[in-house]
Parts: sequence; structure tokens; C-alpha cells
Amino acid sequence: MSFRENYREAVAGRANVADTSELLAYYDEIERHHAGALWTVANKIEPWEPASSSAPMLWQYDALRPHVLRSLELVTPEEAGRRVVYLANSGRRDVTAAVGWLYSGLQVMAPGECASSHRHSASALRFIMEGTGAFTNVDGHKMTLSANDFVLTPNGTWHEHGVEADGAICIWQDGLDIPLMNALEANFYEVHPDLKQPIIFPIDDSTASWGSAALKPAGEHGPKRYSPLLKYEWERTYDALQAFARVSDGSPFDGIHMDYINPETGGAVMLTLGASMQMLRPGEHTHAHREVGSFVYQCAKGSGFSIVNGKRLDWKERDIFCVPAWMWHEHANASVTEDACLFCFHDLPVMKALGLYRAEGLAENGGRQPVLS
Ligand SMILES: [Fe+2]
Ligand SMILES: [Fe+2]
Repeated sequence: MSFRENYREAVAGRANVADTSELLAYYDEIERHHAGALWTVANKIEPWEPASSSAPMLWQYDALRPHVLRSLELVTPEEAGRRVVYLANSGRRDVTAAVGWLYSGLQVMAPGECASSHRHSASALRFIMEGTGAFTNVDGHKMTLSANDFVLTPNGTWHEHGVEADGAICIWQDGLDIPLMNALEANFYEVHPDLKQPIIFPIDDSTASWGSAALKPAGEHGPKRYSPLLKYEWERTYDALQAFARVSDGSPFDGIHMDYINPETGGAVMLTLGASMQMLRPGEHTHAHREVGSFVYQCAKGSGFSIVNGKRLDWKERDIFCVPAWMWHEHANASVTEDACLFCFHDLPVMKALGLYRAEGLAENGGRQPVLS
């Protein structure tokens, strides 16, 4: 700790106790009674501000894709349960997180394959990266899936994923709050007694009923923990961004930025996970801000870079990167002719429900960070 930090801790009434042989012996004594002196850990467990142990990281799709495809030859969905290559943040390997308390992975399935139906306490979402014929069945609602579609598998719902026999190899990104559920010691996992669940409703009934931006089925539908719209199609999402861009300058920090919502409540799609899509217009470079919350991004279109706490991450279509809590971040579109789109999922519903959400813009340097690495 520097002199300046030492001084700051002392003046603010923070722990600033030098080790003496008497104190060290005392710590040993109380440790034998399964106890400890708070002043030895206080500054660590109560930092001045969130101090994420996650690193800002980029996962390049071109580099990972061959390994994801190779898993097709190595294990079956039955053997693996779910055939997924997960994204391991160097600072969060102990909890298998991509960032903070969020898990993410790339799942691959060949035509004709289907994983057995299951449910869990973790909330889950999927963002389709490539292939044709992918489907998900959530509590009897079967959905057909295409590239850049965003799908919910809310916690507690039976779900299974597969690829139709006449489709092509599919890869999608999974996003779950598994690390959070484990931190809360609240995680259950169950396999469907019949391994398969029936399809109860007409195919794609969720989008047909709830997919209109301004209309919803009349009447009461009962309170739900999650959005009755389970699939958000890329075409409608991109149309919405373009329409919004015609009438708005967007956010200085995120460009044309829209949240996926529960059409019944206007709130987040699930209790613990939220998601958004943002469009950076040609040449756009946003200002830096930081937020209490963890974010996983996937480039859905175009190319560009983000600067996260001074680290520049260059991304193109299908690359994935993360922004840890309370780290400065800004985004830039590399093209001056094409727009770039970033899909994002995050834990802001948790932060907001607990009254913890905070954000601030970078005031210095015209709102831009210096690139340090
Ligand atoms: Fe699942
Ligand atoms: Fe942000």
C-alpha cells in the first residue's frame, strides 16, 4: 500500500494496524477458535468502491470455433449433458464465470441431435450464432431459431434444445447466472422424468402472441416471473434500432441502445438477467462510463473496439467480450460506412432490485480513456 493510501485509510478511520509479534501471536490464538480480527480484513472486504476480481477479456470466435466444432467428435449430448465450451475469466476460474457472477459458453449441436429436457434454478438465455434448424422447447412452447435471435429459458421452466434433422450444425452462446445461484447457495437441477417434454402450444406461439412492439393479447394473464415473449427475433430488433436512430441521438455512452423487455411489465426479461442490443452508427465512438453490474457482449454485426479500464478489445462479428463491474468502458464502430451492433446480457435486474445500481460518466479527457494496453 502506498503512503498516500495508508494516509487515506488512517484519516478515514480505516484499519491501519502494524504487525507486532504480540499481535501476530494474538491472531494465531483467535484463529484456533475459528475467529479473526476484523481490522486485518476490513479494508479488503469493505473496499471504497466495487473492486472486481474479473479481468476485461475478449474471446475471438475465429480462434474458439474450431475447438467448439471438435467437441462434436469427442462427446455426445447424452454423455456431456450439454455440449458446451465455457468462457473462463482469468480472475473468476474458481466460480466458472465469464465475468462477475455470470456464466457464458458456446454450445454446439449437429442436425438430428436434441439434449434431454431439464430445469434449474439458474435463469438462462441463448443468442444464436450460426446454423439452421435450431429449436428450443420451453414449457411446451416450441420455438424455431435463426442467427441473432435471442431466446429465454427462465429459471424453473422445463427446456430442451436441438437441431432438426434437415438443419445445419448450430452454435449458440449460452448465458446463465449459475455462479450467482451457487453464491446464494440456491441452485437446483432436475432432469425431466420422461427425458422429453411434449409440445403443448402451436409452434412459435410466443412470438405470434407477444412479439408485437405495441400490442398484447387483451385481458389478464396472471403475474409471471419472466417475459411471456420467449424469443426476440433479429429482424424486429434491428428494425427497432433503425427506427429509433431516425428520431434520436441515442446515449452518449451506448449509441442507439434498446433493452429487451417483458411486454407485460415493461421490465427486464427475467428476474436476475437483463439484455439489450445497441447500434453504433458509422464512425461512432461513445464516451466512457462505468456501472455497478457485470456485462457480457457479443458483436452481432460489424466490427469495432471497446476500451475497458484502459484495455483495448478489438471485436468483429461473433466475438464475445466482457465488462466487469465498475470498470470504465466505451465502444467504437471501426467502420465509417456500416453500423455495428452489440448484443449484451447483464445482471442489472439484481443490482436494481437490491438498490445497488449506480453509474457515472468519465468527466476528464473529453470522456475518453487513455489506452494503456
Ligand atoms: Fe438448461
Ligand atoms: Fe455501459
